Amino acid sequence: MSLTLTTFSSSFFFFINFIFIFNLHHSIAQSQNQRVTFSSFNSSDSPWLPTQNKFLISPNRNFTAGFFPLPNSPNHFTFSVSFAKVPQSSNPIVWNATSTNLTSKSSLQITTNNQILLNGLPLFVNPNRSSSSQSNNASTIQLVLTDDGNLKFGDSNSFDDATNTILPNQDVNSTELVSNNGRFKFVRKLVLDDDGNLKIYSFYPEEKNQWKVVWRAIWEMCRVKGRCGSYAICVPSDDLNVTTTSCFCPTGFTANNGVPDRGCTRKKPLSKNTGFIRLDYVNYTVSGDGSTMNQLSGSQNFSVCEATCKTNPNCLGFGFKYDGSGFCVPLIGKELQYGYWSPGTETALFIKVDESESEESSNFIGLTEVMQTSCPVRISLPQPPKDSNATTRNIIIICTLFAAELISGVAFFWSFLKRYIKYRDMATTLGLELLPAGGPKRFTYSELKAATNDFSNLIGRGGFGAVYRGELPDHRVVAVKVLKNVSGGDAEFWAEVTIIARMHHLNLVRLWGFCAEKGQRILVYEYIPGGSLDKYLFRLNNSRKGDSNTQQEKPILDWNMRYRIALGVARAIAYLHEECLEWVLHCDIKPENILLGDDFCPKISDFGLAKLRKKEDMVTMSKRRGTPGYMAPEWITADPITSKADVYSFGMVLLELVSGVRNFESPQSMVRSDEWYFPGWAFDKMFKEMRVEDILDGHIREMYDTRAHFEMVNRMVKTAMWCLQDRPELRPTMGKVAKMLEGTVEITDPKKPTVFFLGEE
Ligand SMILES: *[C@@H]1O[C@H](CO)[C@@H](O)[C@H](O)[C@H]1NC(C)=O
Ligand SMILES: *[C@@H]1O[C@H](CO)[C@@H](O)[C@H](O)[C@H]1NC(C)=O
Ligand SMILES: *[C@@H]1O[C@H](CO)[C@@H](O)[C@H](O)[C@H]1NC(C)=O
Repeated sequence: MSLTLTTFSSSFFFFINFIFIFNLHHSIAQSQNQRVTFSSFNSSDSPWLPTQNKFLISPNRNFTAGFFPLPNSPNHFTFSVSFAKVPQSSNPIVWNATSTNLTSKSSLQITTNNQILLNGLPLFVNPNRSSSSQSNNASTIQLVLTDDGNLKFGDSNSFDDATNTILPNQDVNSTELVSNNGRFKFVRKLVLDDDGNLKIYSFYPEEKNQWKVVWRAIWEMCRVKGRCGSYAICVPSDDLNVTTTSCFCPTGFTANNGVPDRGCTRKKPLSKNTGFIRLDYVNYTVSGDGSTMNQLSGSQNFSVCEATCKTNPNCLGFGFKYDGSGFCVPLIGKELQYGYWSPGTETALFIKVDESESEESSNFIGLTEVMQTSCPVRISLPQPPKDSNATTRNIIIICTLFAAELISGVAFFWSFLKRYIKYRDMATTLGLELLPAGGPKRFTYSELKAATNDFSNLIGRGGFGAVYRGELPDHRVVAVKVLKNVSGGDAEFWAEVTIIARMHHLNLVRLWGFCAEKGQRILVYEYIPGGSLDKYLFRLNNSRKGDSNTQQEKPILDWNMRYRIALGVARAIAYLHEECLEWVLHCDIKPENILLGDDFCPKISDFGLAKLRKKEDMVTMSKRRGTPGYMAPEWITADPITSKADVYSFGMVLLELVSGVRNFESPQSMVRSDEWYFPGWAFDKMFKEMRVEDILDGHIREMYDTRAHFEMVNRMVKTAMWCLQDRPELRPTMGKVAKMLEGTVEITDPKKPTVFFLGEE
């Protein structure tokens, strides 16, 4: 027994020795390129040369510092701090020493009087160095790299000397930061990019080592001033998730030196006879002495607005809103600058040109290239709120009341105090509380009670609570949504609501105000008269359920309307994703949340509300395992929820628009088993059996004309199939989806969507 053991152990040691010798050989062969890491650099190690291939490493091994060869010229170096675990190809550098142009002969040295010199120049340039009480005791000072990526030498450090990146300056001794909800694990950095925008990036090792922008100071890249020269218009690139932009000259202008980035010049200088070119969704800033961009008071009609600008030789153009609000802004000044295109502007800009040029058709009409408005322009929409006027009036009324009260000689302080409280309440009632500019209006509970006739006219009941129709004193019709199960305090609610109210898009329902009083959480939206899409699509099912409140029969949507609805919804979600990045997802896209306005213009409701929900609710929501419907597989597999979850839900809606059938309810005509999965079934019909007719809505099958509609229907179904891929990374971004529907990008053949909830019951 013991013999065997000895034999075993000796052979074991032999084996170990073998490995050791082998390794020794191996390392000798590689010694020239071997990286040496060390935890501090002091005068006894000095000088430090690029050829030594030595790297300082932080104790947690997250950061490293040293001489890094330039990617395109291996004999030139930077002295940098870098993420240690992010590969070289993924831009791991977080700090660079200012001395550039380092060669293999450069060195980092600690001098006898305790200075640290790179190529003979101080390594750090931060000002507090000279004034600091740095000791002259040479032996004690060394260069170290802390766990949070700070390169320190005495009182000098790289954090005080930041280049383009800022790291979270906290005691992070784990590899990564973990967000509160635990879903996102990031290495993060804040960078002032070369495009002038400040961004936070997250590192995703599992997704091909990519840095992704998760936040940026200016959402729309084109709003960063200075991208394009004068008169040029900045337009985001085709894919909305990409942050690249291009410059274009408006019709009637030519690019300076052929490059619109350098600005544009009028083809003909302005003379007596002028005209205008219409540029939809474009905005400029005017420059020059005495330049102004003020809204004309009162509501103007188009011809007055145009005439005002035409007659003023200093007017370069005017902005006008086609929403009936009479919004008119003449641009007075010497030059137009910082032009950008954005659906958020909601205005058309009319730029002044020579009359002969104004005949040409504009290159920014309907935004064909980027995002065509999918709603017809209407002149007679309800008047939007005129808050500013009302506020001024209210201030005047209150001041007058106050003055009158004082003059009438109220002597007692306590009574004054009592009045003050009353005035304060009155101010609240009138919406006079301090609100951020352009923020939503704060309503009182009693105001909304009055507006909705004591919450008597119920028009819907959704996941977030009941919705009532109401009418404000200024005769605006509103939809009042009384939320239930909302988490967070007043301030949090207000902050969220302000964000939601800032989202402006033709295809989003506008939020006008809110009420947070006595524990109530109420949102006030514009009223969309048409009702929700499901009422139009699933007619059979409605009548089967015997909808008791006999609503008037909804008209049947033809193919063009369905296509327009799909496109509008896609654009609005793309806008939401683009505007909010990963922070706000819709999370609840379904026909019930798509309302139809005038001319069947689709408007998404309930966006941004997912964040207001209580955490527990979200959990139960994600636990609704196997519920067929609109939820992406990652809700069930507990994978991270990203914007691609909305893409999945949209895919289902798209398929339902084509088929007029609920994805989880089988009509009699379809054979169904437990394994029946609507997208898979539709895929086979469309691409295997080539029987398009079988998946089309029975109500309008006769209207289907292969020549007129095949292209459109085919595009809708193909796009849906891409959206319904079970793996999120295979699904396109919402911006791409909109492009696919538009037909401006080629749609490759999708894979058959698979049944992800099979086996669950
Ligand atoms: C520097 O060294 C001197 C003695 O050489 C000592 O008295 C002094 O306290 C030291 N200063 C610091 C800051 O360590
Ligand atoms: C300098 O660093 C070396 C290791 O690189 C270490 O052995 C030595 O003790 C350090 N000297 C001082 C004075 O800190
Ligand atoms: C257009 O740009 C100006 C100047 O940057 C800004 O004040 C104005 O609010 C913008 N207008 C719209 C409709 O976005």
